[in-house]
Amino acid sequence: MKYFFIFLIFIFANVSLAQEEIPIALEKVQINLSDTQSLSRGAKFFATNCMVCHTLIYMRYNKIAEDAGVLYDKMPINVKTWPNGVKPPDLSLEASRRGSNWIYTYLHSFYIDKKRPNGVSNLLVPTTAMPGIPSIFQGQQIRVPIDQDKRIYLWKYQWYDLLALQTPGTMTPEQFDATMTDLVNFLTYASEPYKVQQERLGWWVIGFLLILFIFVYLLKREYWKDVERSRLS
Ligand code: HEC
Repeated sequence: MKYFFIFLIFIFANVSLAQEEIPIALEKVQINLSDTQSLSRGAKFFATNCMVCHTLIYMRYNKIAEDAGVLYDKMPINVKTWPNGVKPPDLSLEASRRGSNWIYTYLHSFYIDKKRPNGVSNLLVPTTAMPGIPSIFQGQQIRVPIDQDKRIYLWKYQWYDLLALQTPGTMTPEQFDATMTDLVNFLTYASEPYKVQQERLGWWVIGFLLILFIFVYLLKREYWKDVERSRLS
């Protein structure tokens, strides 16, 4: 009986491993949290295209959404039922959890897959329940077949080695890359809104400690003067 349970655990562990994301190479995105123009472009894109489904509960987003014309009663936080029964995850900490490169690559790697309920799959999350929202802008992509035995080396491939554009979207590839960079920049900012200030403050703290060190050193010399004098006498 005991072995039977161990066997079951083994089977389940394997199944969950089989559903793990495919480990392809992640494309690097240029994040610049000090570029406020990029952040506001990203925020606007997020509010108009992603906030219909995703929340950012740790951000005070009412302002962003209002500015972009999203009505409060249509915000995801107020919705009770979801089309495919999967609640879109909150994205406030997504950049800390997955990393900016992961999100950037994820948003680039939707492709047509008729076998999936919503008609799309994603290279990083093949069973994703998210509809192919980025495809509206990027265009429809299809999977390019690769050699079966090369599958084990999938981590050497970038998304663009594995996908091909079939029908163009509303943006050129350059525009799409730039828009996704702004969007990921904004999501990175959302997960750590105070990072820029923290880094700036860090330099002040180090400067303060250096100045303090000079005074502490002078004080130490003053104190030890007496000790040394009494040792000599
Ligand atoms: C129609 C609703 C909908 C819209 C619009 C939408 N998403 Fe999603 N998204 C989902 C759902 C549902 C999931 C969950 C997928 C799953 O768990 O299988 C998801 C998952 C994700 C994930 C991956 C979470 C993870 O770690 O696995 C990211 C990142 C994401 N969405 C970003 C975006 C961005 C950025 C936009 C705007 C361009 C957007 N989504 C628009 C429904 C949506």
